[in-house]
Amino acid sequence: MKVNVINSVLITAAALLATASVQAAEQPAQYAASCGACHAVGVAGAPKTGDPAQWEPRLAKGMEALVASVKNGLGVMPPGGLCAGCSDDDYKALITYMAAPQ
Ligand code: HEC
Repeated sequence: MKVNVINSVLITAAALLATASVQAAEQPAQYAASCGACHAVGVAGAPKTGDPAQWEPRLAKGMEALVASVKNGLGVMPPGGLCAGCSDDDYKALITYMAAPQ
């Protein structure tokens, strides 16, 4: 009986670890050190990560226009969004990640 309990605790822990690594893999590598600084909490009116309703009117502009906004800067957002090494594809992945429900 005791062994069964320990086994199920271990299995649950392994399952949680597996879930955590899947979620981490979905977050683009550059997110935490750049976009996340403002978009995680919605600093100065930044559309919030994981809140699709806030991103809907932005996405309506089209992905190319959004990438251009990030590269040129918009309002408080500095040109490049603090990601100096990001390519257009990186920006697209970051925007797609932020606009999706978390
Ligand atoms: C210093 C804070 C800050 C950082 C860092 C930042 N943003 Fe923003 N972002 C903002 C703010 C504030 C707005 C809203 C600007 C406005 O509408 O006046 C915004 C708006 C946007 C928009 C909408 C643009 C539009 O045309 O409506 C996109 C897309 C975006 N950010 C993507 C990113 C990406 C991708 C990164 C990381 C590479 C990033 N942001 C980093 C603050 C930031």
